Amino acid sequence: MKKFCIALLFLFFPITSFAISPSPVAAKQGMVVTEQHYASQVGADILRAGGNAIDAAVAVGYALAVVDPCCGNIGGGGFMTIHLANGKDIFLNFREKAPLAAKKDMYLDAQGNVIPDKSIKGYLAVAVPGTVLGLETALHKYGTMTRQQVMAPAIKLAEQGFILEPYDIKLLTNDQKNFSEQPNVAAIFLKNNQPYQVGDRLVQKDLAKSLKQISQKGPDVFYKGDIAKTIVKASKANGGILSLQDFSQYNIEELTPIHCNYRGYSIISAPPPSSGGVTLCEITNILESYPLNTMGYHSAESVHYMTEAMRYAFADRNNKLGDPDFIKNPVDQLISKDYAKKIQQKISASHATPSTEVNPDPAPNTGTHTTHYSIVDKKGNAVSVTYTLNSLFGAQVIAGNTGIFLNNEMDDFAAKAGAVNQFGLVQSDANTIQPSKRPLSSMTPTIILKDGHLFMVVGSPGGSRIITSTLGTILNVIDYGMNIQEAVDAPRFHHQWMPDTIYTEPFTFSADTLKTLSQMGYQFTPQPPWSAVEAILIDPADGTLYGANDNRRSSGKAMGY
Ligand code: DON
Repeated sequence: MKKFCIALLFLFFPITSFAISPSPVAAKQGMVVTEQHYASQVGADILRAGGNAIDAAVAVGYALAVVDPCCGNIGGGGFMTIHLANGKDIFLNFREKAPLAAKKDMYLDAQGNVIPDKSIKGYLAVAVPGTVLGLETALHKYGTMTRQQVMAPAIKLAEQGFILEPYDIKLLTNDQKNFSEQPNVAAIFLKNNQPYQVGDRLVQKDLAKSLKQISQKGPDVFYKGDIAKTIVKASKANGGILSLQDFSQYNIEELTPIHCNYRGYSIISAPPPSSGGVTLCEITNILESYPLNTMGYHSAESVHYMTEAMRYAFADRNNKLGDPDFIKNPVDQLISKDYAKKIQQKISASHATPSTEVNPDPAPNTGTHTTHYSIVDKKGNAVSVTYTLNSLFGAQVIAGNTGIFLNNEMDDFAAKAGAVNQFGLVQSDANTIQPSKRPLSSMTPTIILKDGHLFMVVGSPGGSRIITSTLGTILNVIDYGMNIQEAVDAPRFHHQWMPDTIYTEPFTFSADTLKTLSQMGYQFTPQPPWSAVEAILIDPADGTLYGANDNRRSSGKAMGY
């Protein structure tokens, strides 16, 4: 009887109280987490074969361009945050650039109104892609393998195809109509002009050919050779403004990452032209003096302070940040603890601050799709990559027979100061269009250290929600003691200053929490689940790597060895 009672007790109160999510994937030597299991396999194979985390990151970058065509890319751009086992932190900026012929008012009509979709669909939405040069630079400077070695798996996946699963079909059917209007896109992404079905094999011969050219000839073929010429020709024929000079002049940058501390953890994240690291650090600085843990997970009190911190930080993000090659970003001010204190003094304990009252001074010098992956190798090198075509399948165009989807990153600019972009972001002159300028991003590839040791690798897609999805995962671990899978899976909320509303995933707050927050002055906008955090946590006690794919993205996988 006693035994039975103890068994019953464990049934209802399991010893490990982590019952919400499946356990994260544990491994000792290396871990790769991506939103497409074929790509995770490619990365894990590279690590097993003796490659380092950078080799694996480059191989995964090319593999995702094949097996996650909505988001993985060579026709887009992104950021790579690296923490080397020797302690060095590196940030590679391979964000796209506006074409040289771009104009500040290129998406406005004669009355100065924004023309819907002009910055989203077709060749005029395309910015000069950065991924190929970004991956090449990472491999050349920090990898150990040859380009041919790391690109071989992607070429094989494109040539031989891969089996489509339910999540792939969901993404492909979403844009079926646009595909069917373009014969060269329909020939690849539709099957006899009908959507693919679960279990079909997607073969991409054209993309395989482009990848082979890059593998054999290097990035010059993309920026100066056949691929550049084909893209420019298609752009000119279809109302675009891309030129050969745009491609030949494209450059990437190695920048110093943003650093800040939160409750004894060192955060290393993305600097401008991403707003990710600055906004993340501004929020964590504001939150540091509030005891979120004792306030309770998603209690009205903790949600209030988190939302206020998001509101103030996004107001700064949207008004003050832009490409540092064009505007002066007040980064030191925004990520200082003193500045956070000033904001804390403005936050009331009992009610929401209307966003209209949070009007940051103008910048001193005014003038859904992406993918994230995280990798750690056995030496302790860590790589956090977020790269993107912007919306699903970018501008939804493929130039000729390149097989390469092109981005619509131009929509990340403010079409004019105060205009709303596809993520609802209201941005300032700091982020309006200029030739060769990089649009402000929210991508937040982040690495966290504890006492100098690797602790977390994290990031996400999700437009402006990238920042709060990454933030939420970090707080769920540091403040609320969740394991990494629980932290990734937990329901999310988001506030971005304007519009003045809290976006909520299903089941984020209880009815009484919603009531309390409403009485404090908050508005809510329920939405379907968003983002796809792909993260790794390293147990400080014994170095075990725990990988978590976001269960919102069923095609993804954490793979370790
Ligand atoms: O760079 C950015 O912030 C956006 N282009 C990211 C877009 C994105 O995450 C869309 N996916 N959900």
